[in-house]
Amino acid sequence: MQPGEVHGVDMEESQIEMARTAAAAGGHDNITFHVGNVYELPFEDNYFDVAHCHAVLMHVPDTQTALKEVKRVLKPGGIIASREMIADSSFIEPAGEHMPGAWATFIKLLAANGGHPQMGKELKNALLQAGFADINASGSFDYFDTAEEISFLHAFISDWFFMPGVVAAATQYGLATHAQFDQWRVEIDQWKDENGAVGALAFGEAISRKP
Ligand SMILES: C[S@@+](CC[C@H](N)C(=O)[O-])C[C@H]1O[C@@H](n2cnc3c(N)ncnc32)[C@H](O)[C@@H]1O
Repeated sequence: MQPGEVHGVDMEESQIEMARTAAAAGGHDNITFHVGNVYELPFEDNYFDVAHCHAVLMHVPDTQTALKEVKRVLKPGGIIASREMIADSSFIEPAGEHMPGAWATFIKLLAANGGHPQMGKELKNALLQAGFADINASGSFDYFDTAEEISFLHAFISDWFFMPGVVAAATQYGLATHAQFDQWRVEIDQWKDENGAVGALAFGEAISRKP
């Protein structure tokens, strides 16, 4: 039945608020948002035709529990589509001398938190293990080129990476020093002002079916 029923789930209230605002701005009134955990979705079995998750499995420690829970709420024949980051293949260019260390620290932080920084590469295997079928895997970049896009990526990286909690975690666990963070901030600010600045976040994608 048109326009269909859509449900959005995230464990953070702030993300749900952002999603509600975006949905309202887009004029969508068929979406219900839930603060919830992907390990325990608030839906009955065999409910959905399609499930989509974007940049979530990379943060969820137990990939198989999450995928099996999504499988539970999909109808037989239902589709799961997922897009997850490949941190190793993401970059900013021209990169300052010390920026590779910043990417390495981001990867270690994500992993230390139980996440999967290269999840985009691992999707096909993870879906196979969870019992999904007809898997079609691919990849793509979110590519940043115009001044507006560079400014967005600069803010996106800076807002997260230089948060006091992130700096504290990285320094406490011996992954980086305050001096390194200061250096990285200088270099990412320089990158933003380069005429030749580009940046890319790499993603692996996969679509598959519940048998
Ligand atoms: C990188 S953000 C992606 C947000 C959004 N899906 C997007 O693509 O813009 C990762 C999101 O995963 C959510 N998340 C992490 N673990 C989760 C879990 N176990 N259940 C539900 N959401 C989770 C976080 O709250 C965060 O909003």
